[in-house]
Amino acid sequence: MAISSKQQVGHLDRMLTMEMARVVEAAAVAAARERGQGDEKKADQVAVDAMRNELNNLPISGRIVIGEGERDEAPMLYIGEEVGYGGPEVDIALDPLEGTTICAKNQPNSLAVIAIAERGKLLYAPDVYMDKIAIGPGYPIGTVNIDATPTENLNAVARVKGCKVSEISTCVMDRSRHAKLIEEIRAAGAAIRLIGDGDVAGIIHTTDPEETGIDLYMGIGGAPEGVLAAAALRCMGGQMQGRLILDTPEKAQRAAKMGVSDPEKAYTMEEMAQGDVLFAATGVTDGNMLRGVQFHHGHITTHTVAMRSSTGTVRWIDARHEDHGKFHQDVSS
Ligand code: FBP
Repeated sequence: MAISSKQQVGHLDRMLTMEMARVVEAAAVAAARERGQGDEKKADQVAVDAMRNELNNLPISGRIVIGEGERDEAPMLYIGEEVGYGGPEVDIALDPLEGTTICAKNQPNSLAVIAIAERGKLLYAPDVYMDKIAIGPGYPIGTVNIDATPTENLNAVARVKGCKVSEISTCVMDRSRHAKLIEEIRAAGAAIRLIGDGDVAGIIHTTDPEETGIDLYMGIGGAPEGVLAAAALRCMGGQMQGRLILDTPEKAQRAAKMGVSDPEKAYTMEEMAQGDVLFAATGVTDGNMLRGVQFHHGHITTHTVAMRSSTGTVRWIDARHEDHGKFHQDVSS
């Protein structure tokens, strides 16, 4: 009996979740060899190479929509590059090393990440900033709103959680552009965790406040990272909104070219990552939810989360790989 393309994609998706784990494991191991070496470019380059090799082993007709940059600036994993050796048509958002500076300094929470969705279902976000707000699962829809003040959002989260605002912890990137935001959060009495980099992890951390100590994420980071975080939250539960910051005519034109018709639009999580979404991330450095890659005598261990939105299944994968000295080229064994 012939099966519809939807059934086909659904069927392949189940297997793809595990295949994606291999892709992020390979990138993470390659990057981890460069941890603490102070060379962001090299760490990123080896992660890109490893991820691209593994992606081309996947049974997909994949098109990169969030990648290393435009074709003229990124030789590999550029926007529009096709990967995989054939199969269902999917769109891919990826960051082989999210948190290049974190990795180069060997600080917490750098990740290798990838999200896959059916064709046309991921927001084609230009490489500009995005204002973001996110909370984890368990809150009524609309608890937070990107257009409300930080104080209003903090009060709303505390009200639903049944606690004082002083018991709410907010993650914000430590940037001068956030001076007013940080001041208002402190004035409202909430706790704050400032992170140097890595807002994909910062947003994912809202999904497990017990473990991470983060209830709410607010502030401005990369738009591509926003789409990746939205994909993760679609799988783990939670709410997120993001608004592109198109503050020059050049950025607005670039966004328009990528299909953004309303430059003021606040995107919901579902608008950034629609339909059936798969997401996987491997820790490069140790983090609050994922351990980093560990090198042992003769073998390597990795810690990965792999998940799918349509089922809500979240798998934590502890993997032990034989180290043949070539892991970054082949983790499929
Ligand atoms: P890289 O992995 O490209 O270094 O990005 C790290 C990151 O911290 C992201 O997590 C975040 O969205 C973005 O950079 C913020 O950009 P900026 O450093 O310009 O504030």
